Amino acid sequence: MSQKLATEIDLPLNDGHRIPALAIGTLPPDLPQRVTAQVITAVKAGYRHIDTAWYYGTEKYVGEALKHLFAEGYKREDLFITTKVWHSFWHSPEKSLDKSLSDLGISYVDLLLQHWPVCSHGDENGLPSEPMEGDYVKYDDDPVTGTKFIDVYNAIEDIKLNTNKVKSVGISNYSIPKLKQLLPKVKKFVPAVNQIELSPHLPQKDLTDFCDQHKIIVSAYSPVGGTGAPVVKDPYVVELATKYGVEPNDITNAYHILNNRVSIPRSFNHDRIKKAIILPRLTKDELDSLYKLGEENPRRYTNDPWGYGLGFRWWDGDTLSKEFD
Ligand SMILES: NC(=O)c1ccc[n+]([C@@H]2O[C@H](COP(=O)([O-])OP(=O)(O)OC[C@H]3O[C@@H](n4cnc5c(N)ncnc54)[C@H](OP(=O)(O)O)[C@@H]3O)[C@@H](O)[C@H]2O)c1
Repeated sequence: MSQKLATEIDLPLNDGHRIPALAIGTLPPDLPQRVTAQVITAVKAGYRHIDTAWYYGTEKYVGEALKHLFAEGYKREDLFITTKVWHSFWHSPEKSLDKSLSDLGISYVDLLLQHWPVCSHGDENGLPSEPMEGDYVKYDDDPVTGTKFIDVYNAIEDIKLNTNKVKSVGISNYSIPKLKQLLPKVKKFVPAVNQIELSPHLPQKDLTDFCDQHKIIVSAYSPVGGTGAPVVKDPYVVELATKYGVEPNDITNAYHILNNRVSIPRSFNHDRIKKAIILPRLTKDELDSLYKLGEENPRRYTNDPWGYGLGFRWWDGDTLSKEFD
């Protein structure tokens, strides 16, 4: 019997739905319109999960890809589409979702995430999306002590309760302290997913263990460390890719998928999109050795200023979070 591809694996969510374990990320490249061809290539290669967000400004290009794919016979129900409510749109999650649905040209998303557990200052349309005063984010609620972020998640729950516009709801960039604040205040739906930066260089095992205990699926962004792809250059990742005769990206995806997590790589190299869908069956020792790379020398590659004060470890520039331990 042939082994399943990474694109064929689904994971069960805590609300009864299922999520495809390999997603294609749609953060904009130099020219955002390149996302249309990227998504078409990915879906034709077998990807069923598209990860997007209002903030990326690429949803209308994803929408063009969907239109093209539907015209070719692909069905909406065969695809899993994730979008997110950005922190400057915190006051109007349903309006943010409506804008996303309109740009995507669809009537529902499979998963709606709160992009960050903070509330930055945005107008009625969530603009500007990066409200800065010098080096500092302009907030509508204190990022360390504020609790408005909980109301935002509750409003996202209400969309699931009261409309047919979302199947599942979840969160992104939640640390353990923020999860501990949120979980007792959940109205009805424990987040199905927490999307965070995760790779063999940043295993964050305390956070993934916490999510596992609460039946929250961890979804890994920047699985190769983002632009420059430092993780695929790691000698041990290259060694495993050579051993299994696969792309180094298959190793970084397998690191997550074999641990029951979602992996969200991004690529505009169409050959890479088509090739990196294999799921090498890494041994437990190999998975442990990958984990040790980051345990011994943790490296976070996304250090956005709106991550300050959220209680994450190893966030460069963060002077707001309290010391751990
Ligand atoms: N929730 C959040 O706050 C959040 C934050 C960041 C990202 N995300 C999501 O996660 C997705 C992925 O994040 P990311 O963009 O940081 O992902 P990533 O997959 O870690 O990095 C993508 C970059 O690595 C390059 N790359 C991949 N494999 C390579 C290889 N073998 N050799 C050389 N370069 C290689 C790609 O270039 P090529 O185009 O040449 O392949 C691309 O520039 C995003 O698109 C977005 O959907 C979410």
